[in-house]
Amino acid sequence: MRKMRTQSAPWRAAAVLASVLLVGSVAACGNSDTGDGGTKDDGKITMGFSQVGAESGWRTANTTSIKDAATAAGIELKFDDAQQKQENQIKAIRNYIQQKVDVIAFSPVVESGWDTVLKEAKDAGIPVILTDRSVDSADKSLYKTFLGSDFVKEGRLAGEWLVEQKKTASGPVNIVELQGTTGAAPANDRKKGFAEAIATNPNLKVIASQTGDFTRAGGKQVMEQFLKANPKIDVLFAHNDDMGLGALEAITAAGKVPGKDITIITVDAVKDGMQALADGKFNFIAECSPLLGPQLMDLAKKVHAGEEVPVRIETEETTFTSEQAKEALPNRKY
Ligand code: AHR
Repeated sequence: MRKMRTQSAPWRAAAVLASVLLVGSVAACGNSDTGDGGTKDDGKITMGFSQVGAESGWRTANTTSIKDAATAAGIELKFDDAQQKQENQIKAIRNYIQQKVDVIAFSPVVESGWDTVLKEAKDAGIPVILTDRSVDSADKSLYKTFLGSDFVKEGRLAGEWLVEQKKTASGPVNIVELQGTTGAAPANDRKKGFAEAIATNPNLKVIASQTGDFTRAGGKQVMEQFLKANPKIDVLFAHNDDMGLGALEAITAAGKVPGKDITIITVDAVKDGMQALADGKFNFIAECSPLLGPQLMDLAKKVHAGEEVPVRIETEETTFTSEQAKEALPNRKY
């Protein structure tokens, strides 16, 4: 009778180690949650996404774009709404690290304070993609790429339009500014771009500037205060459509005609904003596209496959006057 050969102790240990490593690498590549804390291997890429919140029409369109694109790309999406709170985003990212997702993507509510959690993701070997908003980390190796708009440019385009409109003004033009969420990249950058552009005409002066947190309610409330405190307001620059739309209510309630008594410039170009522009209540919008989902899923596949991706991918955008809004509205997707 032939005897079965038994493995020696070192061989057995090596075999056990090899199978552990194999299972580990399969789990890290294309694992997904079974709902009971375990993972299954179905070959799908799993993305953990932390969204800022649901503060605006733009954000709603962005969330829809991401969810739809994940389904279309066959990527399993774990989605978390941080309700505009950085601590919620950090918690969500830590959960995704613990669940060993394949890729983490997020839109940071504010620019600062991300280094520690991004380092944790890097140490766990999970690539991070920034989308829509960026972070101010000096260490660029903490994330693979940033996909989103040039917010400084949006502010600059808004300011340049105003400079052109007011080039013959002989006296002061009083501007009030509704800023986005304090510390958020689009708030910081749009303010900067706008200020740089209007600095070319000393008649153009920002007489009041305050956050409306990117919401309609915030825009309305702050505009009411602006109107009470300042008898002469010529221009409103709102960092997004929603705050501009909230401000419309305050302006009308104060007996003024939006778009005529007060020139209104906003950013985004979501449908409600475009309608206000077409109706002559807004005067100019710098576009900020929320349709980032398909590009984000493409990038996720590439970074998961270990491919090089550009460190910065800028979204293509335009601007709209009232006439252009009338033309664009019937085909507007968001
Ligand atoms: O980060 C993009 C900005 O966030 C949009 O302009 C604004 O509407 C949103 O809340």
